[in-house]
Amino acid sequence: MEDFLKLALTRESCRNFSEKIVEIEDIKKCVEAARIAPSAYNEQPWHFYIIGENKLEDVSSNLQAFTKKAGGFIVVFEKPASIPVKITNTIKSQDFTKIDIGIAAAHICLMATNMGISNCILGIFNEKKLKENLNIDNKDRIRLVIALGYSETKTKEKRRKELEQISTVLE
Ligand SMILES: Cc1cc2nc3c(=O)[nH]c(=O)nc-3n(C[C@H](O)[C@H](O)[C@H](O)COP(=O)(O)O)c2cc1C
Repeated sequence: MEDFLKLALTRESCRNFSEKIVEIEDIKKCVEAARIAPSAYNEQPWHFYIIGENKLEDVSSNLQAFTKKAGGFIVVFEKPASIPVKITNTIKSQDFTKIDIGIAAAHICLMATNMGISNCILGIFNEKKLKENLNIDNKDRIRLVIALGYSETKTKEKRRKELEQISTVLE
């Protein structure tokens, strides 16, 4: 438990990468952590593009400037929900697919952190151009890009609401 909290505290959004390349095999390990993430109906509604050295520019050119020094990326696609999930989402006014994507992204970032790989989830990017650059011609949405790399900077202090502000105990 303490180990996990330490890991969660260590994970932070890195915006000052050192240009060191992240090995494809290491990125694959991060995706492996996403592969085993839970999902509603066990749908696994995702596809991950693992971006290596030669394609970094194709991705970073569509993202915030600090990603130019990232050493790898994972582009997270959302696969369309199946009929049962669509029905449940409608009846229950939920969006399980996006929840699933978020959990998978968390697995990736925690795995990367555990491997000493700095990371940052990015939700803002030029989706159309990113798909063009990667020659991906489908209707699937890119929900997130996760920048990976290395940073010398020490862990920043977390700015978070207090436990009492975000939780209610019912006894
Ligand atoms: C869904 C999502 C989208 C995000 N998009 C961006 C982004 O586009 N650019 C960015 O610099 N950080 C982005 N972040 C990082 C958040 O700003 C960051 O997680 C938050 O400020 C807490 O800081 P920490 O990650 O260092 O603990 C995103 C985080 C999440 C979970």
